[in-house]
Amino acid sequence: MAKPLVILSHPMPEAWLAPLKEAVRLVVGPPDVAGVDVGLQPYFAEAEGLLTWLIDPVDEALLAQMPRLKVVSNLAVGVDNIDLEACTRRGVAVGHTPGVLTEAVADMTFALLLAVARGVFPAADDARAGRWGLWRPDAWLGAELHGATLGIWGLGQIGQAVARRAHAFGMRILYTGRTPKPEAERAWGAARVPWEALLAESDFLSLHVPLTPQTRGMVGEAALRRMKPTAYLVNMARGPVVQTEALVRALQEGWIAGAALDVTDPEPLPPEHPLYRLPNCLITPHIGSATHTTRRRMAEVAVANLLAGLRGEALLYRANP
Ligand code: DGY
Repeated sequence: MAKPLVILSHPMPEAWLAPLKEAVRLVVGPPDVAGVDVGLQPYFAEAEGLLTWLIDPVDEALLAQMPRLKVVSNLAVGVDNIDLEACTRRGVAVGHTPGVLTEAVADMTFALLLAVARGVFPAADDARAGRWGLWRPDAWLGAELHGATLGIWGLGQIGQAVARRAHAFGMRILYTGRTPKPEAERAWGAARVPWEALLAESDFLSLHVPLTPQTRGMVGEAALRRMKPTAYLVNMARGPVVQTEALVRALQEGWIAGAALDVTDPEPLPPEHPLYRLPNCLITPHIGSATHTTRRRMAEVAVANLLAGLRGEALLYRANP
């Protein structure tokens, strides 16, 4: 019997794909075009599996061209690039990769929190550019994490891993989320508060919600104006949760002290974007889960999801009903 045809939207390291290569016929899209490339169209009718990245929209129009599709496996925990309802209607299972990236993303959250609070990059730039001068007691002063209030929006697995770190740093932890998390309240003294209180009381506000119609644009002018002028925003979630234009104004006009963004809207953020020119804004290119170990684990889970979906078995992690 012929092996099932699987479309991989972009090339990935050979070692990550070994188990897949044995079981399926693979066609691979280009490395430099987001989306499932139109050049792969001749394979759409036959494809039974689709392995996507978070930059690849999977919508009704694409699904309609893949009548034999059984499974979409996304190499990410977030599935906002995929029309889940359309997949469910068509009986297509959607896989994703929660869990394996939790600690790497929480580490990166702290890397950004510390870097933006202490002005690590502007200070390092000054040193490199010969602006060190004599040591002064009042130069490059930053904010302290110890004793500060960390507001976490979205206390899921990643939010909780951030809370665990914050507790070890001696931070007070507030959170806003759909469901109370009594274990987090017991373990780290986290207190659940309404959204408005989270904004008003946090010295650092860290975003860990999925992108949904409810979260899209929630951090706009009203929210940013409610934050303390000394507060920092960290976005590890998805760019469109924050309204970019409002954030530019907030940083320019001092509504908040600074921001660290691992995700932006749009992505990639074009080099001429005003956010890059603001000294109180630190931007990294969506690298929250980018460690050797984690990306390999994500690939393992994505491949396992895909193979299970092709066999009609339960996925390791399924994102749609
Ligand atoms: C995800 O998995 O959704 C992250 O944004 C990238 O690892």
